[in-house]
Amino acid sequence: MSGHTGGVSTDAAPAAADVRREAARRRTFAIISHPDAGKTTLTEKFLLYGGALTAGAGSVRGKGERRASASDWMEMERRRGISVTSAVVQFSYRDRVLNLLDTPGHGDFSEDTYRVLSAVDAAVMVLDGAKGIEAQTRKLFEVCRNREIPIVTFINKWDRPARDPLELLDEIEDQLVLDPVPVTWPVGEGERFSGLVDRRSRDFVRFARTAGGATVAGEETVDPQRAEAEEGAAWHEAREALELIDAASAELDIKRFEAGELSPVFYGSALTNFGVRLLLDAIVDMAPAPGARLDAAGDPRAVDSPFSAVVFKVQSNTDPAHRDRIAFLRVCSGRFERGMAVAGGDAGKAVSTRYAHTVVGRDRSTAEEAWPGDVIGLVNAAGLRVGDAVHTAGEPVRWPPVPSFAPSSFRVARCSDTSKAKQFRSGVRQLDSEGVVQMLRRPEGGESAPILAAVGPLQFDVAEHRLRHEFGAPVELAPAPWTTARRTDQASAAVLGAMSGVTVAERAEGGELLALFESPYWLARLQADHPELTLERLIGEG
Ligand code: G4P
Repeated sequence: MSGHTGGVSTDAAPAAADVRREAARRRTFAIISHPDAGKTTLTEKFLLYGGALTAGAGSVRGKGERRASASDWMEMERRRGISVTSAVVQFSYRDRVLNLLDTPGHGDFSEDTYRVLSAVDAAVMVLDGAKGIEAQTRKLFEVCRNREIPIVTFINKWDRPARDPLELLDEIEDQLVLDPVPVTWPVGEGERFSGLVDRRSRDFVRFARTAGGATVAGEETVDPQRAEAEEGAAWHEAREALELIDAASAELDIKRFEAGELSPVFYGSALTNFGVRLLLDAIVDMAPAPGARLDAAGDPRAVDSPFSAVVFKVQSNTDPAHRDRIAFLRVCSGRFERGMAVAGGDAGKAVSTRYAHTVVGRDRSTAEEAWPGDVIGLVNAAGLRVGDAVHTAGEPVRWPPVPSFAPSSFRVARCSDTSKAKQFRSGVRQLDSEGVVQMLRRPEGGESAPILAAVGPLQFDVAEHRLRHEFGAPVELAPAPWTTARRTDQASAAVLGAMSGVTVAERAEGGELLALFESPYWLARLQADHPELTLERLIGEG
């Protein structure tokens, strides 16, 4: 389809140099953290520093809403449409365009989070300075490592009593097998937290608190002599720690950071804005810009190739007035322009780009153009699934399959109204394709009693609610005994299927075979007795 948008011909291919320049300006990243470590607060502060959020203009998410229970969550999802599990906030900072992909706050929705991580070039790992690494941090980190996503660490809440900063570094090194390299170092902690030493310049950056942290924190660069005179004991303590670090810690090697082996560490307080600017500067200066992406054949597709994008999230019913379905795409190459002719999915069908949206915070607005690293939402892009490629019509692209994540909760689903069996089947398939739950089939169970598998049990509440209200299929979800899943193959599945204490099931999506175990001890015993059987760990197993 040819057409004109804002006076620019959609047929004219943009110069490769324009695409490369725009790609180089972009940083596409996510924040990973355990709930309550400060992800929402930090997001708000990034917007504040990017000039996209003015003081008192409201926040990314309201306070009460963070505490939402499962049912509140769904109400909220409906009321707000797209915003709660929204896709991205885009803001500019120092002439760069930053795309911060939102990951759902609730721990139970981690599978969704994992999918989002397939679309970013870097991640900020936020730790609570009093707690260090927590369960969810570890899981999300594992996904980042698996995808070799570079990680910048932010140790937050330094305005409150925190753990020894050196001990926190040891914990990162020991538990995550990641080389932490402090770039900033705190002077004082809790109420006496006054600023940060920038190890690169050796300057002491002293901050001034602002009322409620609602405006950018004042900063003053203080030379070491003055800092010594004015900061007293806290300065000496910081100096001693820095001497230790200089002797013991690795060099800040950007190549190792890009390979996901080393993490630059920043201390600060999102609440008071201390250290937020230094962190944002690091994202701009250190995190990689969008680069070539490997296609299914393992060939790198350069950013200045014709338009291509990857679907990383599909969401239905974002607008209660219409039954719509939005596919969220990350642009991988070329320039996207609303109205351009694109195709996508397995069948390479035409996809309409007339209703392309960007989503910033709570608001949807029409996306006229997008460049590598940007996110667009295509409304009613039926047939698109997570992992699909969308590309210039006639120039097919395929991406490697999206890895599946280790489910740890299972239910057996049955439709409680036999006259709705058809709606039930199509509903379950739809939820599976969106990644709301994974659908597994047992050889004998078929689709009338599929196993639903999830990373967190809250996913089942959403599935049940949507099957009933959206597809008109009331459903019974019976508890199931399994706790652990392993990937297997045909040969091993034949052996496992005849054993007791193991259930073999097939993923509806992709046909992968899984062996389900009721107890990890049984799995361990079986592995010891039968080392020849294929039982591979899945990503995200805690
Ligand atoms: P999350 O998205 O990772 O779940 O965390 P969120 O930002 O919601 O922060 C969780 C709690 O931690 C909030 O407190 C928030 O204010 C607080 N917090 C975040 N960053 C800092 C920080 O740098 N210093 C201190 N002292 N607190 C921080 P809350 O009690 O749940 O809400 P509120 O009443 O404080 O808003």
